[in-house]
Amino acid sequence: MAFQLWFLGIAQLSVRARGLSSFSDVDVKNRRSFIFCGGALASASAASLALPLRSPASTPPPADTVYGEILSLFDAKTIPWTTRAPSSGDAPSWNDLRYRTSTLRTTVDDAAPAPARPAFYPAWMAGHWSVRYRFDGASFPQGRTVLSLRTAGAGLGTCLSLPNVGYSPPAHAAHFFKRSSDAYEDLAYNAPRKMEAFWPQSKVLSVCTDGRRRPDEVAVAGLSTKCFVTGDGCAVEENDALHLPASRVALDFEAPTRRSGRRTQSLDVSMVEDVDGRGPGGGSHAASRNYSQFNVDQELQTFYKEISYWEEIEDQNQVVGKIRVAAFLPKYIKGLDAGNSAQDYDENSAVAVYDYKILMKSISESEAASI
Ligand SMILES: *[C@@H]1O[C@H](CO)[C@@H](O)[C@H](O)[C@H]1NC(C)=O
Repeated sequence: MAFQLWFLGIAQLSVRARGLSSFSDVDVKNRRSFIFCGGALASASAASLALPLRSPASTPPPADTVYGEILSLFDAKTIPWTTRAPSSGDAPSWNDLRYRTSTLRTTVDDAAPAPARPAFYPAWMAGHWSVRYRFDGASFPQGRTVLSLRTAGAGLGTCLSLPNVGYSPPAHAAHFFKRSSDAYEDLAYNAPRKMEAFWPQSKVLSVCTDGRRRPDEVAVAGLSTKCFVTGDGCAVEENDALHLPASRVALDFEAPTRRSGRRTQSLDVSMVEDVDGRGPGGGSHAASRNYSQFNVDQELQTFYKEISYWEEIEDQNQVVGKIRVAAFLPKYIKGLDAGNSAQDYDENSAVAVYDYKILMKSISESEAASI
C-alpha cells in the first residue's frame, strides 16, 4: 500500500496540502477513454422512472432538528461514531459492520456488512457536474499518538470519500439522477472518477455496485456484474443494476504500492447508515453517513463517517458544499499491529477529521465526458 506522506510523519498535513497545490495540473491520464457505459445511463434511469416508487422523501425526518444536528458536527471538536445510548455500556458494534474474510464464507456478498438504503439527495442535485474539492484542513482530536497506519485515510485509497487526504484534485465529472422526487448518486459513474482525480497514479479497471430497483428497500441486493474500463460488462442489457441507486461500490484498480511497484488491487465500500436533513425551504441538504470499507489486498478494514452539506446556488447553476470525514479506529484493528494495543483512547470517537470544500458547476453530459 502507498501511504500518505503526512501519516509517515514526514510532513505536516497543512504543509503537504500547500506543496501539492502546484501539482494540481498533473495530467490525469486520458479521461476521455474513461467512459464506463455512459450510453446505457439514459435508458436505465428512464426505465426506472416508470416504476411506482414510494419516495424516501415522503417520510422525511423532522427537518430542523436532524439538519441542525448534522450541521453542528462541522464545528464539533469530537465526533462520535454512534450517538445511541450505550444500552449496556457496550462498545460500538464494529463486528457487525466489518467485512468478513473467513474462509467459511463462500461469496463476496456474504462478506459485506448489511448496507443501508441508498442515500438520496434533493432533486436539484440531478444532472452532470464538474466538481472541485479543496482541502480545508485536518485535525486529530485524540492526538497523533493514537493514530495507526490502519486509520481510514492514512493509506491512499483507504477512504473512498477522500481517496488522497490533503490533496486538492483537479475538477472531475460527477453524475446524479432523478428518481421520483429525489436525486441519487450514480456511484458507478462517480466512484472511479473521484478515485482517479484524487489519486492520479491510480487507474480504475472495473466497477460494480449493489444497484437496486427499489431504493427504499433495505434488502441486500448483492453486487452487479463488473463493468470494465474496456466497456465490457457495462451495457445496460448485460448489467442493468449498475447505475441504479446503490449503497455499495467495489473497484478494481491498478496503483503504485510502497513495496511491490504497481499492482492491481480491489476495494469494496458499503454505506451502513445514512441520516439526512433538509434545510429550510429545501435549498440545502445535510447528511451524515457511516461507511465500512475493505481494501482486499491489504486486508485493511476501515470505518469512517462522512458529514456533508450541499446548497443550491440556483441562479448560477452551481452547488456549493462541504464535506468532513471522521475516521475511527476500533481497538481490535489497532491491536492488529504489535505493540499498539496498550494505549487508551475512545474508539467511539474520531481519531482523525478531514475537511474539504466543494464547488459543483452544472455541465452537459458531453462536457462531462471530456473532463
Ligand atoms: C451511524 O451514525 C449515526 C449518526 O451519526 C449513529 O447514531 C449510528 O449509531 C451509526 N450507525 C452505526 C450502524 O454504527
